[in-house]
Amino acid sequence: MTLEFSPKRIIVTGGAGFIGSNFVHWVVQNEPDVQVTVLDKLTYAGNRANLEGIPEDRLTFVEGDICDAVLVDSLFADADAVVHFAAESHNDNSIADPSSFVRTNVEGTYTLLEAARKNGVRFHHVSTDEVYGDLALDDPTRFTEETPYHPSSPYSSTKAASDLLVRAWHRTYGLPITISNCSNNYGPRQHVEKFIPRQITNILSGLRPKLYGDGLNVRDWIHVDDHSSAVWTILTKGRLGETYLIGANGEKSNLEVLREILVAMGKEPDDFDWVKDRPGHDRRYAIDATKLMTELGWAPEHTDFVTGLHDVIGWYRDNEPWWRVDKTEIEANYAKAEH
Ligand code: NAD
Ligand code: TYD
Repeated sequence: MTLEFSPKRIIVTGGAGFIGSNFVHWVVQNEPDVQVTVLDKLTYAGNRANLEGIPEDRLTFVEGDICDAVLVDSLFADADAVVHFAAESHNDNSIADPSSFVRTNVEGTYTLLEAARKNGVRFHHVSTDEVYGDLALDDPTRFTEETPYHPSSPYSSTKAASDLLVRAWHRTYGLPITISNCSNNYGPRQHVEKFIPRQITNILSGLRPKLYGDGLNVRDWIHVDDHSSAVWTILTKGRLGETYLIGANGEKSNLEVLREILVAMGKEPDDFDWVKDRPGHDRRYAIDATKLMTELGWAPEHTDFVTGLHDVIGWYRDNEPWWRVDKTEIEANYAKAEH
């Protein structure tokens, strides 16, 4: 039987972003003995306010870059584990300018791996199902841990590169690592550039939602809190060197999701604009999470997508100052790309 790992001092990179901040809130609520240090550069996607409400004696916040080897090394000297969320995360931005994606996602992960090796720190790497490329709409299979890597975009190819670095540091140097590849997350505090928040905040701003291409692309939605519980399960119970896929059987076309948002917000289901498609747009993602569920006993709790979506709409209604500051610039950038 594998002994459980119980880290007491963890570093969370990217902990001021969408998923990282939800993970920090989850850990502080569910794991009373764990101290969290967040390392975050506070790029356009990071927001210190995302960590409001966390007691000061549970959290240390460090503003800094994961590519800063001296800073990273000094933080790792005092940690049991790192949970690595920091990344440039948006496909459309990676198409417009891939440079920061190569730097943060590849060089940043390399910098963290070297510090982990030097200081004997356990490494959990947070990645995406997009490393596997895409599936046809009528393909009966879903992604598993055995699916070959086939990334399509600058974003997903830099995430794939980072996964491979992590695997190599395990095989070559024996670094204690685990990797998770999760499907599309939804929940509170997601940046307005992403699909679901963009449509909700468009409607709240009196703008029409925007659907790319034919709207039939499928994403496999999971609530961010289920992602957090899965990452914690893998960090504490996962086998070293292993990859676990995280998903919650949430396949839906973009058109279906948009219509659910429109109806939930009292609009007509066709009250949106069709806009130019994304170059290289992945058709469908779908996760088979059998390994995580059977081997580690994890199961998602937020399985009713429509209820989850209503809660998220409520969050954006109640937190307009949080998203309003970014909205105009994001929409101006989308307009330039005819999105
Ligand atoms: P996000 O863009 O909301 O947050 C990224 C965070 O990383 C921000 O706080 C940002 O300030 C920080 N950051 C960026 N560059 C940095 C650097 N060089 N040094 C330190 N901090 C830096 O992203 P997210 O959606 O929360 O995604 C988090 C992770 O989860 C990413 O690794 C992403 O690939 C992965 N993931 C995301 C999804 C999804 O649906 N969003 C799904 C699966 C996996
Ligand atoms: P996104 O949130 O960017 O996530 P990802 O590219 O990682 O899947 O987009 C989700 C889906 O929604 C994707 O198929 C692109 C589509 N999309 C739109 O149709 N309209 C939009 O305004 C945006 C931002 C995305």
